Amino acid sequence: PLRIAVFASGNGSNFQALADAVQAGELDATIELLVCDKPKAKVVERAKLAGVEPFIFEPKRYASREVYEAEILQRLTEKKVDLIVLAGYMRIITDTLVTPYYGRMINIHPSLLPAFPGVNAIRQAMELGVKLTGVTVHFVDGGMDTGPIIAQRAVEIEEEATEASVTESIHAVEMKLYPQVVQWIAKGQVQLVERKVQIIHS
Ligand code: GAR
Repeated sequence: PLRIAVFASGNGSNFQALADAVQAGELDATIELLVCDKPKAKVVERAKLAGVEPFIFEPKRYASREVYEAEILQRLTEKKVDLIVLAGYMRIITDTLVTPYYGRMINIHPSLLPAFPGVNAIRQAMELGVKLTGVTVHFVDGGMDTGPIIAQRAVEIEEEATEASVTESIHAVEMKLYPQVVQWIAKGQVQLVERKVQIIHS
């Protein structure tokens, strides 16, 4: 099975969806590590319940991003992690991790990239009044939400929609899509050629 590490900062509904898919036998992977920068995040509790080892760190205790990322990299190497799965990890990632894991690190983002990168993507979309938004899963490169796109799903913003209702719809889509994409990777169905992704559908 594919050995994955999930990085998260918050609630962890995507972590939960991945852990549940592993548990249900729908995802040929093992979650070797949760990396979390927020000791009080709900995702830490979820990892405990799922029996996943946590690595929790406080960024302010480190001299720089590169220093804590080097420590994370060491843990990933120890655990022989094949794939980093970013699931609401709200920190910039530097070359310390991007370079060794290029093509082996994915992110989920709550918009149809390249629209609305960065934080508060759902709010940005609502404030601009777009009628269609969605979810993107992509490989991570050195930029902010810029890497090669693996999959996208659309979510309509209805007239009566609120930020809360759109967030709920997006989360529901994410929780289906992310385990599916990780399973494609586990099965060797995702190929990165130059900067484009091909999915081999069996
Ligand atoms: C998800 O909606 C994810 O797409 C978003 O954070 C949320 C985390 O929810 N990620 C980003 O905005 C990354 N720029 P969760 O903690 O419940 O999985």
